[in-house]
Amino acid sequence: MASYLPIADDEKGHELDLFCVPKHYENDLDKVIIPHGLIMDRTERLARDIIRDMGGHHIVALCVLKGGYTFFADLLDYIKALNQNSDKSVPLTVDFIRVKSYCNDKSTNSVKVIGGDELSNLSGKNVLIVEDIVETGRTMETLLSLLSECNPKMVKVVSLLVKRTPRSSGYRPDYIGFEVPDAFLVGYALDYNEYFRDLSHICILNDQAKEKYKV
Ligand code: IMP
Ligand code: MG
Repeated sequence: MASYLPIADDEKGHELDLFCVPKHYENDLDKVIIPHGLIMDRTERLARDIIRDMGGHHIVALCVLKGGYTFFADLLDYIKALNQNSDKSVPLTVDFIRVKSYCNDKSTNSVKVIGGDELSNLSGKNVLIVEDIVETGRTMETLLSLLSECNPKMVKVVSLLVKRTPRSSGYRPDYIGFEVPDAFLVGYALDYNEYFRDLSHICILNDQAKEKYKV
C-alpha cells in the first residue's frame, strides 16, 4: 500500500491572512489546508520513490489536464534534479491528456477523455500517469482501461491527493501525496469551474463561493 501524508477530517488548517492569497479570492476561501511549501516537500519525496521503482527504463510522464499541470511540472522538476545529479539516469518524455468529469462541485457520471489519439505511442513504455486528485476513482479507472489497450510495459499512477470518501470505488493510486477530507478543495491547479487554479496553496472553498462561481 502506498504511504501518504494524512490530513485529518478535523484539521483546522491555517488562517488565510498568515499566507499570501490573491486578493480576488480572499472572500471565497475558509482555510489554507495544505500550504504550497508542504506540497513541494512531499512532491520531492514522491519523485525519489518513483525513480527508485521506475528508474530502469524510459519513462513517459502522462499529465492529466487541466488539474494535474502544476503538480506535473513540479514533480518533473524534482525527477530531473535526481536524473542530473546521479550516476544512473533515465530518459523522460512527456505527454498530455485531457479529462473532464466535473460540473460545479459534483462528479458527473460521464468521464470524457479528450486528446487520447497518441496513446498508441505508449506501447512498450514505462508510463507514469500524473493526476491531481482521486475522488470516486472513476476517472483513473477509465484512463487505466484505455491505456491497457496500448500494451505499455508498466503503468504507475501518482496522485497528489486522494479524498477519503464513501463515494470511492476502492481504487488507490501507486503513489499518493496526501489523503484529504471529503471537502471540495481548490488551488495548486485544482479548480472550481475553472477558477482557483491561480492560487498556490490548497484551500477549502466556502459555500458562498460555490454559489458565486456556479455555472
Ligand atoms: P474521480 O473520477 O471522482 O476520482 O474524480 C477525479 C477528478 O475530479 C479529478 O481529476 C479532479 O479533476 C476532479 N475533482 C475531484 N475532487 C475535486 C476537488 O475537491 N476539487 C477539484 N477537483 C476535484
Ligand atoms: Mg484531475
